[in-house]
Amino acid sequence: MKVGVVGLGYVGLPLAVAFAEEGNEVVGLDADPRKLDALAEKRSYIEDVPSEKIAALDGRLNATSRYADLSSCDAVIICVPTPLTNSREPDLSYMIDAATSLAAVMQKGQLIVLESTTYPGTTRERLRPILEESGLAAGRDFYLAFSPERIDPGRTDYTIRTTPKVVGGLTDACQARAVELYSLVCDTVVEVSTPDAAELTKLLENIFRSVNIALVNELAMLCERLEVDVWEVVEAAASKPFGFMRFDPGPGMGGHCLPVDPFYLSYKAREHDFYTEFIELAGKINQNQPQWCVRRIERALNEVAKPTNGSKVLLLGVSYKAGVGDIRESPALKMIHLLRTLGADVSYHDPHVPELIDLEMSSAPLEESLASADLVCIVTAHPSIDYGDVVDRSSLVLDFRGVTREISSEKLVRL
Ligand SMILES: NC(=O)c1ccc[n+]([C@@H]2O[C@H](COP(=O)([O-])OP(=O)(O)OC[C@H]3O[C@@H](n4cnc5c(N)ncnc54)[C@H](O)[C@@H]3O)[C@@H](O)[C@H]2O)c1
Repeated sequence: MKVGVVGLGYVGLPLAVAFAEEGNEVVGLDADPRKLDALAEKRSYIEDVPSEKIAALDGRLNATSRYADLSSCDAVIICVPTPLTNSREPDLSYMIDAATSLAAVMQKGQLIVLESTTYPGTTRERLRPILEESGLAAGRDFYLAFSPERIDPGRTDYTIRTTPKVVGGLTDACQARAVELYSLVCDTVVEVSTPDAAELTKLLENIFRSVNIALVNELAMLCERLEVDVWEVVEAAASKPFGFMRFDPGPGMGGHCLPVDPFYLSYKAREHDFYTEFIELAGKINQNQPQWCVRRIERALNEVAKPTNGSKVLLLGVSYKAGVGDIRESPALKMIHLLRTLGADVSYHDPHVPELIDLEMSSAPLEESLASADLVCIVTAHPSIDYGDVVDRSSLVLDFRGVTREISSEKLVRL
């Protein structure tokens, strides 16, 4: 098949590479000229895709900004962002822009698949009418489906091929065509009866995580009052071989998905006079977690008779999760802002994030910063860092990730 991928970000680029690696000709389209320049030089800008992989594609991935280049594709997959507006409502503007441009070049017989995470009904109610402005009818002249992306940046044990792919087509023929497409790169395709069911499947997966993270974060707050080690409790509960799934407390949720996606469903639910209490409650707890962590920082400094104002606080790790450099919605950014408001002298070290441009900060050298900081906070537990060494070299360490559980030291405080 000749496959088009619109939006070559964290989702689109690995997918485009996967299709090209299987021998398919791929047209990758993006609106960002820096990404197109990088791909023209066979240079990757996504950590999970090494540049060598792009070089090895032998020209099967062609990057472009011209929608007309998609008209010769058998299938076009849309992977553009679906963020929230400032008032925390779904922002479908990227999808609408992409679909409008695509409608102008679409051809009879093409399969169009939306992969961007969104609320149930988007493919049918929002995407379909825009595509039909082409004069072609969905289900008759072109095929239409939704298939959620399940990529987990930084994960190596599951790949695009080994992660089952959920697919919901508008009609049986749309479904059959979409299954044929994804079978090229995925071992297992899970069929659901409608695009709406596929859209909601993705939201359920992310809401499940958000709610469980909130639960364990709330438990961490209670454990502080009870003077019980929350990590010990989580570890012990995880020994149950059935009926329990482990989630760890931390400084809050980040990334493009978990802090955003659940609110797509609460928005849709309101249209039906329905209020999704679990989503709102989990969102509230997780969003407040950085504030709570900053209060823990203030208290840790207070214990050693230091005010936050003027103290040197080093954050170890600022990306939203271990092993990656993605800082979108990272709780560390909120913590830096809050600590600066309190007058702390904040610095950070992160091997994956050389600069925080908006905050005008760059990653400080580890050894010197450990020695000079009044408090070192482990915010993101990158596996490349030796936390025993961190504790040895620091005067005080506050661990928000539970990675120092095996270490016993007077200088150590844990969430
Ligand atoms: N990042 C993840 O881990 C992840 C996982 C599962 C699902 N998703 C979902 O996948 C979608 C894409 O996420 P992402 O993380 O890849 O985003 P991203 O920001 O990394 O990439 C999106 C790309 O789309 C491009 N783009 C925007 N508008 C465009 C347009 N009109 N035409 C062409 N290109 C355009 C941007 O330049 C960017 O390169 C979102 O809906 C997200 O919720 C993301």
